[in-house]
Amino acid sequence: LETRIAGDSEKKMAEIKCVGVVGAGQMGSGIAQLAATNGLDVWLMDADRDALSRATAAISSSVKRFVSKGLIAKEAGDDAMHRLRLTSNLQDLCSADIIVEAIVESEDVKKKLFKDLDGIAKSSAILASNTSSISITRLASATQRPSQVIGMHFMNPPPIMKLVEIIRGTDTSDETFIATKALAERFGKTTVCSQDYAGFIVNRILMPMINEAFHTLYTGVATKEDIDSGMKHGTNHPMGPLELADLIGLDVCLSVMKVLHQGLGDSKYAPCPLLVQYVDAGRLGRKRGIGVYDYRNATQKPLT
Ligand code: NAI
Repeated sequence: LETRIAGDSEKKMAEIKCVGVVGAGQMGSGIAQLAATNGLDVWLMDADRDALSRATAAISSSVKRFVSKGLIAKEAGDDAMHRLRLTSNLQDLCSADIIVEAIVESEDVKKKLFKDLDGIAKSSAILASNTSSISITRLASATQRPSQVIGMHFMNPPPIMKLVEIIRGTDTSDETFIATKALAERFGKTTVCSQDYAGFIVNRILMPMINEAFHTLYTGVATKEDIDSGMKHGTNHPMGPLELADLIGLDVCLSVMKVLHQGLGDSKYAPCPLLVQYVDAGRLGRKRGIGVYDYRNATQKPLT
């Protein structure tokens, strides 16, 4: 039976020629770039036209940097840019073999999108979510194809980070799981598989650490620089937790903490008041020029 499933999934994989991505923010644009540079046709959709313009500029300069560093050939870079199509019309994703959702981290908004995607996507298409924490089973319940719904959680920035966490909802089929894993491997990623509980593996462990770094700052134990330096040099992390929170987006960190708090029912996951206050103030991190740190007068080094 396993051989047959693997065979069927390989067939499905061979059939993945076109990837749809919804949400052209920092994650969606990176996922679209990965798919295009790996020889797939891509439709990248966003409701906000300015986000599409920013994504085109970001992908184009990132691909140029990959070419100049010799990580991809010039022809492959040019080919990737030709494979990439941008749209603000969801209907254009009807030809995609897999659609990866990377919109705002809100269960209600994602559920509405999954319902709409179910209506426009090919009947054979896989619907994947890049959610950081939201239940795949609940997103799947908004569709008539729960066996073809799965979590495909890339790390930030997707073209660089090695991991894709794959989350199986209650009804995700083996075929969907194997085809999604194979696609992540085609992108050169290492995969891990998580069951569908709040925060999955990585954010269940990472976000409470980031939240604790906020508490450490909030209660005046140390400065932001010393908290980050302590964790960088003391535990060999490449970035401190507060710098990392700014990279992820403080709004995303807060949403994940709320999902952990609600989903696991333990007060240890309550979001730190300082994190809440920064988000209320619009200090969302690098993407807004200010978060824990102020980037407005600094030249930001590109990440990809
Ligand atoms: P972002 O804020 O950079 O981008 C989100 C984009 O989605 C925006 O361009 C927005 O216009 C668009 N959008 C919102 N609602 C939409 C809709 N209904 N239809 C079409 N487009 C819509 O957010 P980011 O950081 O890219 O995160 C996206 C998702 O990826 C979230 O679920 C987040 O939890 C997850 N994620 C984020 C990571 C991070 O480090 N930021 C890492 C891994 C996952």
